[in-house]
Amino acid sequence: MCGIVGYIGNRTAYPILVKGLQRLEYRGYDSAGIALLDDEIRVYKCKGKVRDLEQLTKGNNISGNIGIGHTRWATHGLPNDINAHPHKSMNGKFVVVHNGIIENYTHLKNTLKKRGYKFVSETDTEVLANLIESIYLENKLSAENAVRLALTKVIGAYGLVVLCVDEPDKIIGSRKGSPLVVGVGNGEYYLASDATPIVEYTDRMIYLNDEELVVLSAQGLRVTTLDDVQKNPTITHVDINIDNIDKGDFEHFMLKEIYEQPTSIYDTFRGRVDLNTHQINLGGINEVMPRLAKAKRIIIVACGTSYHAGLVGEYLFEEYARMSVEVEYASEFRYRNPIIEPDDVIIAISQSGETADTLAAIRMAKEKGALILGICNVAGSSIPRETHAGIYTHAGPEIGVASTKAFTAQVMALTMMAFVMARKRNKISAEKFEQMVGDLVKIPDAITEMLKEEKNIKKIAEEYKNATNAIYLGRGYLYPVALEGALKLKEISYIHAEGYPAAEMKHGPIALIDNNMPVFVLATKDKYYEKVVNNIQEVKARQGKVIAIVSKGDETIRKMADHVIEVPNVDESLMPLVAVVPLQIISYHIAVMRGCNVDQPRNLAKSVTVE
Ligand code: G6P
Repeated sequence: MCGIVGYIGNRTAYPILVKGLQRLEYRGYDSAGIALLDDEIRVYKCKGKVRDLEQLTKGNNISGNIGIGHTRWATHGLPNDINAHPHKSMNGKFVVVHNGIIENYTHLKNTLKKRGYKFVSETDTEVLANLIESIYLENKLSAENAVRLALTKVIGAYGLVVLCVDEPDKIIGSRKGSPLVVGVGNGEYYLASDATPIVEYTDRMIYLNDEELVVLSAQGLRVTTLDDVQKNPTITHVDINIDNIDKGDFEHFMLKEIYEQPTSIYDTFRGRVDLNTHQINLGGINEVMPRLAKAKRIIIVACGTSYHAGLVGEYLFEEYARMSVEVEYASEFRYRNPIIEPDDVIIAISQSGETADTLAAIRMAKEKGALILGICNVAGSSIPRETHAGIYTHAGPEIGVASTKAFTAQVMALTMMAFVMARKRNKISAEKFEQMVGDLVKIPDAITEMLKEEKNIKKIAEEYKNATNAIYLGRGYLYPVALEGALKLKEISYIHAEGYPAAEMKHGPIALIDNNMPVFVLATKDKYYEKVVNNIQEVKARQGKVIAIVSKGDETIRKMADHVIEVPNVDESLMPLVAVVPLQIISYHIAVMRGCNVDQPRNLAKSVTVE
């Protein structure tokens, strides 16, 4: 989704902005632009990629020590040069970049039109620029106070950065609902929608809170509320390894992140699982443990891949901790007027920690008195800041839009939590607990072994690269993995894919099966094995093509299926962590073979900060 970067200091802003925008490319975008400020404001913007923007600026004046940049993911109006940010106000006094959605923009636009304002774009952001300017000119306010007053008239979400031509020594930023981070350098400041574009310059970050406004200038930094109450911002030291936001020797971030999984999973349990005693200490939730252990019900809220991790969590919590669990799409949950009791526990799962629907869902549940926990990857993001307690997954920055290592890290966090709860509630013996923890710590090795199958998987991808549809089947712990496999394929290869619980096939999807239909069947040796073998036969009887994910050494399915991919033998409750890997790899190769933009698939965004 849209990305913001800004710079003010002694250096030329342009290269910092361009590099920052490249770092933000992973969020997904359709156009890019920058504004540079010295004694005038120069705006360059275009549809397409940051490299198109660089072409556009070639030979033009790119001087200036102050500047802002933006990658746009279209919400209001087509992706084109005009709708790209930054947006200038009609009289050229202000330039604005904005993430989020201004919900009352039609009303504001009509009011401004009556006052003679003309609009060139279809965006809500241009409305903001003109609103700020009209207030500035009519009330003869400072730029800062004009922004402040304008924002009191706005309904919706914004992460906003503003330059004013009359006050060419400052950058003004504010947020509500959409994140904005200030990087504090030596006599210089950065602004961005997340820490990735600025972390190579400074590790000192200030995460603005909703309805706070920051003014950055050579004199320093000032954070206030929209009512102009001075705030003392906290500087957080972020620990992001710069290598993690480079592709290294890999062709794509997605492949790199698939290959990072043995390490990222290890990082999720490192420091939490004692490898000698096989005990687990989840420091982030220790304090709330008594309340958690007594909870009547756990409600997991999430979106996309994180929702699928939540489904695995449901099986884990029910089987081991014997707790009742519901897993909800955050977008449905928040508007359904759900019944939430004070002894319910909500677990929000989110890689980015910024997903608008998930954030809104926890705010609503918090108001109703529930205990709110988070399982998030991005430290300092909004969701962990608004939860009572939680677990960071420590998977490292995930840049590919299609989530891979974040998923396995989320499942690992849920697994640890389920085991801890199971023990706390006396639902499993100390011996069983130790045995499960012993199995859990072997998962990085199992994934390493799985990754060795890439060549074989690539050959299978070759056969199905021209498919138009695909079905994914799984049962029990592997049903969410089927959903995740189908999501991966559709996200990056644009092949229509559906995931189903294997037994549901006969209630509909079986009608789709013919000799062109690839059916991915997760059929490892678990308690559903025989039943899934029957499903494979049903598919074969209709001439479907079966790609079976099987336990090592399975000869039965090898005789029936068109292709088999063997996975190492691990306990069935840990199998999602391993069995998802071949599905990630096959989606990746099919997408590459189809010439798709794997890391930035069309229309998708990494961090969905609008509802
Ligand atoms: C977007 C991303 C997905 C992600 C989902 C939820 O759709 O493209 O990869 O699973 O948002 O994001 P979150 O950051 O909350 O996990």
